[in-house]
Amino acid sequence: MNSPSLILNRDQINSFRQDGFLVLDSISTAEEVAQLRGVFDGLLNSKAIFKEGAQWDLVKGDDSAGPAKLPQIMNPVNYAPQLRDTLFRAKALTIAKQLLGEEAGPFFEHAILKPAWHGAATPWHQDESYRLDPNFDYREISFWMPLQDVALGNGCMQFIPGSHRGEVLMHRSANNDPKNHAYECCGEFNPAEAVACPLPAGGCTIHDGRTLHYAGPNETGTPRWAYILTFDLPPTARPGKRSFPWNKKEPTAHLLRRKAWLRHGGIVVEFWRILRMGVPKNPRRLVNLMRRARRALAADSPDADH
Ligand code: NI
Repeated sequence: MNSPSLILNRDQINSFRQDGFLVLDSISTAEEVAQLRGVFDGLLNSKAIFKEGAQWDLVKGDDSAGPAKLPQIMNPVNYAPQLRDTLFRAKALTIAKQLLGEEAGPFFEHAILKPAWHGAATPWHQDESYRLDPNFDYREISFWMPLQDVALGNGCMQFIPGSHRGEVLMHRSANNDPKNHAYECCGEFNPAEAVACPLPAGGCTIHDGRTLHYAGPNETGTPRWAYILTFDLPPTARPGKRSFPWNKKEPTAHLLRRKAWLRHGGIVVEFWRILRMGVPKNPRRLVNLMRRARRALAADSPDADH
C-alpha cells in the first residue's frame, strides 16, 4: 500500500476556498502515469465495457456516425484492479479529507480521452448540475490528472475563479442536443474570466463541484488522456426547492445499454463490485452507499456521474 505524504498547506487551502480550484505540479510519478496510460489505452474500445454502458462519447450520441470526439471510460477501476492501489488515489483521498473533512469518501472516477487532432472541447459546466436529485445539498471535489503535459492547445483545464460560491446555473445538453450526455452551462457567466491551468503529466487540478470549468479541443497530434477521481460527502436535505430541468430527458444510448446489461446478469457483477470497493464504517456514508446501490441495481441512472 502506498503511504500518502502530501498534504496541503494553509495557503493552498485558503486559495482553494477562495477560487474553487487549486493546481498541484505533482501528485503521481512518471512511472505511474506511464502505467495508467497503458491501462486506459488497453481498456478503450473494449466491447465488453461499451456493452455494459460504461464507455460512451460525452459530446456525441453513441448511435451517431463518425469518429469519437470525447470518449470516456466510467469507473475504470472496475476493469483494471491495479487502479485500486495507486499513489494518485491515496494522495487524493488524503487531500479530499483535508478539504471536505473525515467523512469524505470516493464517489466515482473516469478517464477521458481527447483524440489527436479532433478531440472535442468539454463544454463549460458545473459538476453539481449532473446530480439527479436537486433537493439535496452536495459537496464534492475532483482531482483531474493529465497523463501527458497539457496546455491550451490540447485541452488543459480552465476555471472561473469564485464561481463555486454562487448557485448552480442553468445548463442544457451539449450543443442543445439531448442525445449528448454532457451538459453545457447556458447561464450567465463571463468566459473571459477563465484561468487556464497548463500542467505537467502527473500534476493535477482540484476543483469544487460548483466551480465552472471547461477544457478546449485537442489540436495536437498526441492523444490527451486525463484521469479524474471524485470524492464527496453524503448529501444532506436542502431547505427550499430547486430544479435541474436539463436532467429530465430521454435516457441516452449508453444508459439504455447499461439497463439491458443489468437486466441480463450485470446486476450480480455490479453488486460484487460495490462490496469489493469496501463497505464504509461511517454510518452516513453507509446509508449513502445503500441509496446509490439501490439506484444502480434498479437499473436507474447512476447518481450523477459524468
Ligand atoms: Ni466536470
